[in-house]
Amino acid sequence: MEWQAEYSVGIDTIDRQHKEILGYINRLNDALDGKDRWNVSHYLLIQVDAFIKVHFAVEEALLEIIAYPDLAAHKLGHQDIIDHIADLKLRAVREDISGELVQFLRDWFIGHVLESDRAYGKYIVAREQGTPP
Ligand SMILES: [Fe+2]
Ligand SMILES: [Fe+2]
Repeated sequence: MEWQAEYSVGIDTIDRQHKEILGYINRLNDALDGKDRWNVSHYLLIQVDAFIKVHFAVEEALLEIIAYPDLAAHKLGHQDIIDHIADLKLRAVREDISGELVQFLRDWFIGHVLESDRAYGKYIVAREQGTPP
């Protein structure tokens, strides 16, 4: 899955973090196709989980600073994903969920970036231009 120009939210730091998350999802997909499935894929799953949490903390701090009107809902969306990934991590040690795992992360990534994050991106850009929506 490749980075597309439409994934940009218009804020460099956030775009860089989203690219890094996409890189983890791709490496996880490759690892699950390879031989060292268990150790490599679990290492990557733990890394992507940790990085997503850092990313959410950065986004939430940014949205706090600008008093983003939809911050509460945005945070709830983040928490849902943290909970879901925690559940996947537990299940991944007991059963083979490789297909579901990558598909879930890809679907989440698209929705997170294109829907919820681009919305705040537009808000920030409009705010910087002095025309808050
Ligand atoms: Fe994000
Ligand atoms: Fe977000």
